[in-house]
Amino acid sequence: MRHYYFVVALIWCVLFLGCNVEAQAGDLKVGFYKKSCPLLEQIVSKVIAQNVASNPELAAKLLRLFFHDCFVRFNKPLWEVQTGRRDGIVSIATEARTDIPAPTFNYNRLVSSFASKSLGVQDLVVLSGAHTIGIGHCNSFSTRIFNFTGQNNANDIDPSLDLTYARFLQRTCQNLSNNVTSVPMDPITGTTFDTHYYTNLKQHKGLFTSDAALLTNGRASNLVDKLIDNGNFLNAFKNSIKRMGAIQVLTGTAGEIRKNCRVIN
Ligand code: HEM
Ligand SMILES: *[C@@H]1O[C@H](CO)[C@@H](O)[C@H](O)[C@H]1NC(C)=O
Ligand SMILES: *[C@@H]1O[C@H](CO)[C@@H](O)[C@H](O)[C@H]1NC(C)=O
Ligand SMILES: *[C@@H]1O[C@H](CO)[C@@H](O)[C@H](O)[C@H]1NC(C)=O
Repeated sequence: MRHYYFVVALIWCVLFLGCNVEAQAGDLKVGFYKKSCPLLEQIVSKVIAQNVASNPELAAKLLRLFFHDCFVRFNKPLWEVQTGRRDGIVSIATEARTDIPAPTFNYNRLVSSFASKSLGVQDLVVLSGAHTIGIGHCNSFSTRIFNFTGQNNANDIDPSLDLTYARFLQRTCQNLSNNVTSVPMDPITGTTFDTHYYTNLKQHKGLFTSDAALLTNGRASNLVDKLIDNGNFLNAFKNSIKRMGAIQVLTGTAGEIRKNCRVIN
């Protein structure tokens, strides 16, 4: 039960407090809607809490949506209407594909993707810890377990992956093009916001190439060791997600308020 509350609190912070931190005066605010819609924060908070309690997977969906929203120059309805965020007047579908790091990225590509959003190695390692909840579809990692070097036999597996875990993934996914089956990213506690992501990683059970990549750099790998501690992780996560929430936010008179949230006015 306790993790629901943490995730709800986290999403809450992200919505109403987190994004505030690096914004300048006159930008994002707590209580932006105090006058125009006084009960808004209460209502949203209650709705999120109720829904996450009956559907734990929702927390993961919301968290991932927030990540994508922060990295890409378009906004989704749930998040933009609060706290004075305004809508972008540029919305480019291909930008979504190029801005969001891919699960096949190696360490250098991950670092430059994060750097392009003013996020550092610490943010990369800490925020990747979000993969302690939620699922991954087979086609996000199947090149690691099928035909890894083009030899096309059952042993043709990414050597950075634990063999027993790889065999389990092969059995579950069956073939390279399976895009229907999914597995929990944290096989032990898939809906709990804990530090098992880092424990798994050290056992070579990180699901994506981008997860395993964090062990290929000395500094990142030292951070992994530190973040196995629950207190270290939660503190660091709060800081980094605040930084992520402040990426390219439009406030004041920048951008617009969309009449239809799916398209620019
Ligand atoms: C470091 C670069 C990252 C890469 C390459 C990456 C990639 C992915 C991929 C491929 C999936 C699985 C999608 C699917 O197959 O259905 C996923 C899921 C997820 N990611 Fe990331 N991600 C990254 C960073 C982050 C960050 C920074 C957050 C949030 C702070 C995040 C939160 C999540 C969550 C919560 C899920 C589970 C979604 C669900 O259960 O539906 N990820 N990510
Ligand atoms: C395996 O990879 C090789 C080399 O890229 C390719 O020629 C072959 O078609 C692949 N096999 C399958 C089943 O995808
Ligand atoms: C791959 O496996 C999935 C899940 O078992 C199945 O739905 C799909 O038809 C398979 N595709 C091929 C090309 O065998
Ligand atoms: C899965 O792959 C099939 C065959 O390539 C495609 O028709 C289908 O739209 C894909 N589904 C998803 C959810 O991507």
